[in-house]
Amino acid sequence: MEQRLDDISICENEKAVGKAAAKMIAQQIQQKPDSVLLLPTGRTPLDMYAYLVEMVNAGQVDLSRIATFNLDEFYGLPQDHPGTFRSYMQRVFFSQVQVPAERVHFLDSNAADPAAECDGYEQKIRERGGIDLAILGIGVNGHIGFNEPGSAFDSRTRLVPIREETRAANAFLFNDHLDKVPTHALTTGIGTILDAKKILLLATGRSKANAIHEMIHGDINPELPASALRMHSHVTVLLDSFAAPESQETGNRLVPQPGGD
Ligand code: GLP
Repeated sequence: MEQRLDDISICENEKAVGKAAAKMIAQQIQQKPDSVLLLPTGRTPLDMYAYLVEMVNAGQVDLSRIATFNLDEFYGLPQDHPGTFRSYMQRVFFSQVQVPAERVHFLDSNAADPAAECDGYEQKIRERGGIDLAILGIGVNGHIGFNEPGSAFDSRTRLVPIREETRAANAFLFNDHLDKVPTHALTTGIGTILDAKKILLLATGRSKANAIHEMIHGDINPELPASALRMHSHVTVLLDSFAAPESQETGNRLVPQPGGD
């Protein structure tokens, strides 16, 4: 069992985090054109998707053989509601690149039988040969996907309640109307995430610094879901300087800055 995360890079700013993440994804696809990706939403990966679109348009990466699964989804909304992660992904990524629709997978925000939906999602991941690269953000309370504190490390895709602080963090998708943010979500489990061959976690901004500190230095404990990543042997963490206030202490290296390589 791994106990420490040793591939942690501090980037100068959030754009540099996005660029480094896009490059990692491109490398993964260049090495394995039919890579299976687990994709995040939220504010953090916006630059990553923008750079990846640029790389695709520049002919540097071909997405025609990849398969994608989204990490999580709100539950109890029509699929085409602008607040769903499906809609987010269409806006920021899939409307701008060509990925065959049959290779793009989402959890159904409107599933009549959420347990069957979640089991079916696990089944589809298995049929695609498993996740090659899982890309994650992190919640202020250390959640990954919608695996809130207390989630079992062997949890699988399932219906979960969303904590109030997490609902507040997601209100931007609902024009800042907290009452419109769903109370439940479907999320891949921590066990599902740990089954990925490689994991990339991104964090930017001061609000994430405490969760990142605990993930790196705290106990490996379900109360800090991201600490589970220390049990995985291929994790890369990309931070901006705000999310990594203790960069000197951890002795991390810098990654190339935009335009600097
Ligand atoms: C949400 C999502 C997570 C995401 C996290 C951070 O609740 N379920 O998958 O990583 O919050 O979001 P942000 O990048 O906007 O800070």
